[in-house]
Amino acid sequence: MTRTPVNVTVTGAAGQIGYALLFRIASGQLLGADVPVNLRLLEITPALKAAEGTAMELDDCAFPLLQNIEISDDPNVAFDGANVALLVGARPRTKGMERGDLLSANGGIFKPQGKAINDNAADDIKVLVVGNPANTNALIAQAAAPDVPADRFTAMTRLDHNRALTQLAKKTGTTVADIKRLTIWGNHSATQYPDIFQASVAGKPAIEAIGGDEKWLSDDFIPTVAKRGAAIIEARGASSAASAANAAIDHVHTWVNGTAEGDWTSMGIPSDGSYGVPEGLISSFPVTTKDGKYEIVQGLDINEFSRARIDASVKELEEERAAVRELGLI
Ligand code: NAD
Ligand code: LMR
Repeated sequence: MTRTPVNVTVTGAAGQIGYALLFRIASGQLLGADVPVNLRLLEITPALKAAEGTAMELDDCAFPLLQNIEISDDPNVAFDGANVALLVGARPRTKGMERGDLLSANGGIFKPQGKAINDNAADDIKVLVVGNPANTNALIAQAAAPDVPADRFTAMTRLDHNRALTQLAKKTGTTVADIKRLTIWGNHSATQYPDIFQASVAGKPAIEAIGGDEKWLSDDFIPTVAKRGAAIIEARGASSAASAANAAIDHVHTWVNGTAEGDWTSMGIPSDGSYGVPEGLISSFPVTTKDGKYEIVQGLDINEFSRARIDASVKELEEERAAVRELGLI
């Protein structure tokens, strides 16, 4: 193997997303079939043994690309030299917990992790936050890493994007490969806005492909996509894991390897003020990627239907930002 291994840090490695994610990273699906990887697993102390068990299984797969696995409960160790960081471990909302309590508990995780990334990661670090509330956790980590370019902190809305692709394909009797330029705007929460007004289905405008059925859009498609996480929890008795891991793989793979010509993807990224989203908020946008960098797709016409929904999700992000400011987390 001649290429230098890429150091990939995964937090919450012993959790259910971690279990669905690590084997795919080690097999080359995150970065490419010719890119060797070192895995660094971060867990809390009581879960280190479980992480060791997962590492034993990774060894037992004899993945040719997997060079080395290190496990730690110290963020300074786990992020040392990290090129890619997948921040999956988070404090889940439990019964009776207010949003402020949740944000505060997650601040206790993402603030020190952001600082450890700042102090130890490689210069080319790319961060994806999966742990919820993902957009605001990304903001907290970013604020604690002033020496890292702000645009390296991203939040995952690719699962929402993938969910929207499948719902639209089902409605139009096509396949996901026929759909281009779909967008998730805003927060990874029930306020998110899956937008098909710019999308095409098998080469024709998506809105035509659904027969102009705005009722289906507002009463079926949007709530189905936006509330899918809750529907999975209801059905499975646990939150999405394999599909979330798959989306994390897709997010980083696209960031590193680029979007296809004529298409784009959705990523939660720091706003530069585009489309009226206040600067600095980590919000989902349509983006193209090339050479390891992303750009917001510019110049899209936003109709009234979309504007109201983007604004509602952005308002929620602003409220979350105000709450974590109030808590002194950013
Ligand atoms: P899980 O409870 O199975 O695993 C979480 C793991 O994180 C646990 O092993 C826990 O020990 C670990 N952890 C907790 N605090 C940590 C810390 N400070 N450092 C390192 N590890 C720590 O949860 P899961 O199902 O794997 O989900 C993880 C997160 O991803 C949740 O917040 C979930 O809501 C979120 N999620 C996000 C999306 C998305 O689309 N953005 C989708 C699905 C799930
Ligand atoms: C999902 O979208 O599946 C998750 O974010 C849901 C959750 O609350 O963990």
